[in-house]
Amino acid sequence: MTMEKIIIAAVADNMAIGKGNALLWHISEDLKFFKRTTSGYPVIMGRKTFESIGRPLPKRPNIIVTRTGQYDGAVTAASLEEAFRIAGDYPAPSTDGDHTGKKCFIIGGGQIYRHAIGMADRLLLTHVHVTVPDADTFFPEISPEEWKETSRSETFTDPESGYRFEFTGYERRR
Ligand SMILES: NC(=O)c1ccc[n+]([C@@H]2O[C@H](COP(=O)([O-])OP(=O)(O)OC[C@H]3O[C@@H](n4cnc5c(N)ncnc54)[C@H](OP(=O)(O)O)[C@@H]3O)[C@@H](O)[C@H]2O)c1
Repeated sequence: MTMEKIIIAAVADNMAIGKGNALLWHISEDLKFFKRTTSGYPVIMGRKTFESIGRPLPKRPNIIVTRTGQYDGAVTAASLEEAFRIAGDYPAPSTDGDHTGKKCFIIGGGQIYRHAIGMADRLLLTHVHVTVPDADTFFPEISPEEWKETSRSETFTDPESGYRFEFTGYERRR
């Protein structure tokens, strides 16, 4: 069975995703969406994102891409390709809600998204309607020749920050 590779990210209008090894916002509904979507499935992340989260994410295999380190509670991979091989060794969880079988999620950050966007099958992007000019980490360009937007939610407003955001899905054009 082939494994679907899905990038999941929250992206500002200017494609910013991080600053000072931290996220740019705290949007509770987006964090809930992330948890609900990825729980049970392998998550692949760069070493800096793992350090920024500060602990392995519970209830899902954590695969850290690093050329150097070893981390408690997480498996390490020396390349993204190795991370995909490792992810493929995990069975689909019994909670596989939509019965679509094997998937893994690429959860950041900037370096890993840049490398993975050429290999991913789907993007799940939360578009947050804010511009962060002084961010230091950005999502790569989403080429319309390669990617087709297939879903977009209504616009929600985060009650704490006031930021407006939408959940979107993109599929690779075949
Ligand atoms: N908005 C979002 O959805 C979102 C999601 C995730 C993260 N972020 C943000 O993104 C930022 C972190 O991103 P980042 O680009 O600085 O770092 P990153 O992609 O999380 O991690 C970079 C590290 O991954 C390893 N790595 C990268 N490419 C590799 C390769 N080809 N082979 C082996 N190892 C490789 C290296 O680790 P070693 O140095 O150990 O070798 C590298 O230093 C933070 O601000 C974080 O908050 C945002």
